[in-house]
Amino acid sequence: MTVAAIDRLIKPHGGRLVDRTGERPDDVDALERVPLTSRERSDLDLLACGALSPLEGFMGKADYESVLESMHLANGLPWALPVCLAVDEAPRGDRVALTDESGRAVAVLEVDEVYDYDKEREAELCFRTTDDAHPGVARLYEQRPRYLAGRVTVFERQTPEFPELARDPAETRRIFAERGWKRVVGFQTRNPIHRAHEYLTKVALETVDGLLVHPLVGDTKSDDVPAAVRVECYRTLLEGYYPENRVLLSAFPAAMRYAGPREAIWHAICRKNYGCSHFIVGRDHAGVGNYYGTYDAQLIFDDFEPHELDIEPMFFEHTFWCNVCGSMASTKSCPHGPEDRVFLSGTKVREMLGAGEVPPVEFTRPEVAKVLIDAYRS
Ligand code: ADX
Repeated sequence: MTVAAIDRLIKPHGGRLVDRTGERPDDVDALERVPLTSRERSDLDLLACGALSPLEGFMGKADYESVLESMHLANGLPWALPVCLAVDEAPRGDRVALTDESGRAVAVLEVDEVYDYDKEREAELCFRTTDDAHPGVARLYEQRPRYLAGRVTVFERQTPEFPELARDPAETRRIFAERGWKRVVGFQTRNPIHRAHEYLTKVALETVDGLLVHPLVGDTKSDDVPAAVRVECYRTLLEGYYPENRVLLSAFPAAMRYAGPREAIWHAICRKNYGCSHFIVGRDHAGVGNYYGTYDAQLIFDDFEPHELDIEPMFFEHTFWCNVCGSMASTKSCPHGPEDRVFLSGTKVREMLGAGEVPPVEFTRPEVAKVLIDAYRS
């Protein structure tokens, strides 16, 4: 493979893939320690590998304010969500050791500034609600009161839950280039892949060179299907229904924020760093409850200038199986009524799986249903 093959791929956000991994400094044990929450630890790992390029550390006030108010970094690049580290008080020294949940030092942060923030304001601007029943807002309200900003150097990466699916942006880019892909569509998901998801990914794949199935495997809310079960579903489905040479399954080690529209932009920018030229946004992307309109996560892309994000969103209407068409469809492509559609609510599907009942093949592939039923039973 040549450098030219990688050069054909979309450029990372800001033009250069950041690498914030480095050697463990000798004085780490002497530094003041700052504990990371599980979400901050995921963000740290994304910073380390360049998935959050051009960010090199946790955000300072100028970036934070600019992102909140205008969805751009202070330097004018699009950016939709804060990537911040919350602390109780300013550290004394100019460097601190960041520790994981077990108390091990994993990175050093060069202290740039410490600033106050307003949780309700951040909630309203990022999540469009201040309701603490929203899981992202609830987590924000639990955070420590100030933000600590600075560049990080990570000397101990997070141990991946699925080592064989752990691929940094540099690696997915290398694989895309090796396979001769230039136009690659990224698919974010936090669910098992049902027929609707399968349809979106395949319709999208028809128009590009390759598909990156990129399930989020960081923290999700407790009633989402656990990542280990989902990964088994993805493997099973891909093995049976996708051509191997056109699809790459890889894990996205981020935590879900459930910020709907803003998270769709954030997800797209991250996938651009992994080398995707296109990104799927369907109905209620990264949404939760009834906080967002069905297509708000698509409409928000209009807040950016054409080509400003560079990565191209591929929008999909709410898709379903239509019995008359005998295929997956949406109201864009199918003239029949709701009575002809196979519709199952999430609650209904969970009930069926819990009772060992296989949902209709129009809703989910039987092989995937089997993985889910087995998981529910155990
Ligand atoms: S998400 O939180 O990661 O967005 P999920 O895994 O359910 O949740 O969705 C993955 C992607 O598929 C999102 O872009 C979502 O909008 C899209 N999607 C899921 N179900 C449908 C559907 N029935 N019709 C259209 N798009 C869908």
